[in-house]
Formats: sequence, C-alpha cells, structure tokens
Amino acid sequence: MTATPPAVPDRQRHVEDELVRTVLASFHNTPDARLKELMQGLVRHLHAFIREVRLTEAEWQQAIDFLTATGHLTTDRRQEFVLLSDVLGASMQTINVNYEATAGATEATVVGPFFVEGSPEIALGGDMAAGAPGEPCWVEGTVTDTDGNPVPGARLEVWEADEDGLYDVQRDDGHLTARAHLYTDEQGAYAFWGLTPTPYPIPHDGPVGTLLDKTARSPLRASHLHFMATSPGLRTLVTHIFVEGDSLLGSDAVFGVKDSLVKRFESSPPQPPPTRSRARKHASPQPRSPHQTQKTPSTSLDDCSGRTRRSRCRHCSCSGRSSAAARSGTAHSRTAERRGRWTGR
Ligand SMILES: [Fe+2]
Repeated sequence: MTATPPAVPDRQRHVEDELVRTVLASFHNTPDARLKELMQGLVRHLHAFIREVRLTEAEWQQAIDFLTATGHLTTDRRQEFVLLSDVLGASMQTINVNYEATAGATEATVVGPFFVEGSPEIALGGDMAAGAPGEPCWVEGTVTDTDGNPVPGARLEVWEADEDGLYDVQRDDGHLTARAHLYTDEQGAYAFWGLTPTPYPIPHDGPVGTLLDKTARSPLRASHLHFMATSPGLRTLVTHIFVEGDSLLGSDAVFGVKDSLVKRFESSPPQPPPTRSRARKHASPQPRSPHQTQKTPSTSLDDCSGRTRRSRCRHCSCSGRSSAAARSGTAHSRTAERRGRWTGR
C-alpha cells in the first residue's frame, strides 16, 4: 500500500530524479555486494519518502534532533534505538522476513530491549523469579525439532517483568531477578517457576515515549514471558508466550503478538509445587545433563517465607498456581537445514 505521490512540475521532478540517480551512483563501486544493495535500497526508499511527504526543512531538523536524543539516551542498560525500531514495527517485520511461517513450528517474535547476557542458571523445576515481586507461575513445555524429535540439552533463556512492570535491569540494585537459563532433559522437557506475566509499559520517558504520546499510542505491552531457545545445529528461536484474555493483545506497543503464541494460564488453589528449587548457579557454557540437574537441592514451601522484602512471600500466599503450556518455535538449522519445532505439552 503506497500513497499517491503529489504532482510536481516536470522540471522539478527531473531535478529530484537526477539527485536520486547521483546518490545511487555514489555507491556503485561498493566492494561488498550486499552493502551496496542495502545502501542503494535505503537511498531509493528514503528519497521516495522525502518526496512523497514533501518533507520540510524544519521537519528534517526535527528528525535529526529526535535521532540525536535517541542516541544520547542509549546506554548498555537503556536501548532507545531498539525501542524505536520496535514501535515502528521494524523489529517485528525483520523477524517476519527471517522466520518464514512453518506449519507446526512455533513462531518467533521480538527480543525486546531487556535481554542481557549472563543470566543465572537454574535447575529443572527451579525458580527464575529470585525474589522479584509477582504471582508465582509454573511453566512447563518441551523442545522438539520440526520432525517432533525431542531436543535434549537445549538451552532456554527466560526473562520477564515483575508485577511492578519492571525488568531487573531497570532497577538500581544490580540483582538479576526474573531471568535465568536452564537446560531441557533427555526428553526435551523443561519446567520452572516464574511469575504470572502482567502488562507493562515500554520505557516512555524518552524520545520514543514522546513519539507515542504525540501519535496517541499506548506504551503498554501485552502480558508476556520471554523465551530464547538454542541448541547446537539448530537455529536460535526468540519468542514469547502471551496470556489468553489479556485486553492488550490487539494493541501491543511493539506489534509482537501472534495468535499462536497466546496461551491459557490456569489458576489453581495453593498447593505444593511439583518440584521447586531456589538453587541458582553460575552460567555454564555447556548443557548440563539431566542427571546433573536432578542433583540440585530443592526447597519446600515451608522455607520460603520472607523471601522478598518488597512484597509478601507470594509463593506461600498466592491465590493459585498458574501453568502455561509453552508452545514455541521454529529452529532452522544453519548447517544442515534441519528445521526445529518447540512445542508445548
Ligand atoms: Fe518484555
């Protein structure tokens, strides 16, 4: 869908066409063929945009000021450019282009600005919340390839916002909470305690927030839990699971919702969990065997009172245990073109 370009006199159109040709030609000798394609494509579309909307000099300067402010706010803990890409739908469209829809495979979605390297390792059945406030949620699923074969030893990174709508990196205490990694067992199965996802606003105190405000858009994201699944020989999958019934599913600020990723979360009365461990380990570069993870000490409900000073011990007093069947993604092999599927159970 494109807008009809405004009519301009022939002489004026010739001047503008000539500049496009000149700029395109300036990239003609680019040694890297892909870089040449990217830059010439960018020039064609950028000039078409400028000409279509008849961009004023004041608007151009405003755009420069906006991008400058975006850069000034970006640090290793605040990625305003990722936010900008997200709210423009560019992140999601890039994912769409690179992860073709495959029957039976879990769909990918945005990584978002809050993934960080170096998450703690938890055992199967462990607790990734680590004291973050929120309602406990039991999550379990299975990682398979697209042929349905279990993927043992797959590494899962999981991260989410707490019930205050904040990720750990948005707090100043330096603690990693509500994020962890774990490895699937020999059946490709995984299970862990997390938090029932809640809606939260993307950071909107910067230029991207100003943009949303001026365009009457909400900064809220639909409730979700982040996953990243990796396994040698399989393509990495980055995805979410969303909460069925969330009123924000149709207006997610970063366009990350896909119907196949919306899951039912069930509440149940307080009861002892199937397994649970607070043991958190240092990250290991190699998958741990299921036998090793089973040796991790587990804990019971009895000893988790006073777990966090920010809120009551929700592991003891929650209204119920939630469960989510995580159905997830495509894993295209980089080397053997083996296609993977990450399915829930
Ligand atoms: Fe998120």
